[in-house]
Amino acid sequence: MKTIFSAIGVSLLFLTSCNSSKCGDACFIQENIDNAVAQHTIQTDLIEKSGKILNPRTTNADGSVHYIPIDDWCSGFFPGSMWLTYDLTGDNKWVPLAEKYTEDLDSVKYLKWHHDVGFMIGCSYLNGYRLAGKKEYKDVIVEAARSLSTRFRPGAGVIQSWDADRGWQGKRGWACPVIIDNMMNLELLFEASLLSGDKSFYDIAVKHADTTLEHQYRDDNSCFHVVDYDPATGAVRHKHTAQGYAHESSWARGQAWGLYGYITCYRYTGDKKYLDQAQKIYDFIFTNKNLPTDLVPYWDFDAPNIPNEPRDASSAACTASALYEMEVYLPGKGYKETADKILTNLSSPAYRAEVGTNGNFILKHSVGSIPHGAEIDVPLNYADYYYLEALMRKRNMEKNPQETMAYLHNTK
Ligand code: GLY
Repeated sequence: MKTIFSAIGVSLLFLTSCNSSKCGDACFIQENIDNAVAQHTIQTDLIEKSGKILNPRTTNADGSVHYIPIDDWCSGFFPGSMWLTYDLTGDNKWVPLAEKYTEDLDSVKYLKWHHDVGFMIGCSYLNGYRLAGKKEYKDVIVEAARSLSTRFRPGAGVIQSWDADRGWQGKRGWACPVIIDNMMNLELLFEASLLSGDKSFYDIAVKHADTTLEHQYRDDNSCFHVVDYDPATGAVRHKHTAQGYAHESSWARGQAWGLYGYITCYRYTGDKKYLDQAQKIYDFIFTNKNLPTDLVPYWDFDAPNIPNEPRDASSAACTASALYEMEVYLPGKGYKETADKILTNLSSPAYRAEVGTNGNFILKHSVGSIPHGAEIDVPLNYADYYYLEALMRKRNMEKNPQETMAYLHNTK
């Protein structure tokens, strides 16, 4: 009897999943939420059982999970994914977990030796504020913006991304290196300005975005990874790369960071030049002859051995999330359709890991830095974070476009 019921159960499961594939976007979203919850549950249970607060970033060569200290630029993504999972499920069980792993980052608000405090505090505390009404997180968000602002160099009109004399690129001979990734840290400044009423945060973000627009983009609307400035005069000293194939090549994640960053700038300023820039970046990416048909780019658009080069799912996930927001501002131009295609492909077995594998990360096949021989064809916590954010934006948009707008502005 038990066997018959089991067989019926399996058949029902099979039929349900078949129906799922036919029941459209709602089932697609729900199935991917269920999968994410399954992976996150295994991941967090393992950490909780250790009795420690651990922050997973990727896997090691032996397949074990690589945990990071709180001053690592990726430390906000794990707590951020918990807030997103809370929002996607409505399950209160994620709130104390998200709080615990977010609040472990408290001292990051004073971090001044690199620019990534925007990623770190934005994904953790700002999401707690937005998605769970954690108003008490305001002070951390504003303090972090204050720390980030100390890196603003008025003579050059930019936030200095990395220190010139320390850290992993400290021997390059740069004076004031700015990486395109820095565009992702501006959201923290815009939000802190709204929360505190201090307009200087807003002004710094706008100045940085404008200087980057002037110097970091090429005529074909691709971007350099690094622009090195004279901090006193703003003269451009170098246009280089750190993580791309070559100075003149187009590092895939850099294109995604820029796209997302300029859409974010449009959200807070309403300045059309930022939206125009986002459209130009979109055109560069999606008309590129080296973009594969599944829309998940190789790690660099000019990598030398395409098609035998690793893909970067993190770039695709970030791009998809950005495009859902772009659809809000420019409806009906196909941005949502592109984002949907990316998300569908990332959710296929080619990129989405089986539950319990892949170090319990959701997505496979991302790249950290090939020139440094680091994190090649691995899971990355930020690929998962932007994938979940894209899923949330898709769900909100399909439920109610106004709700999408509310999410994008709800710290005001
Ligand atoms: N922000 C560093 C990276 O994208 O790898």
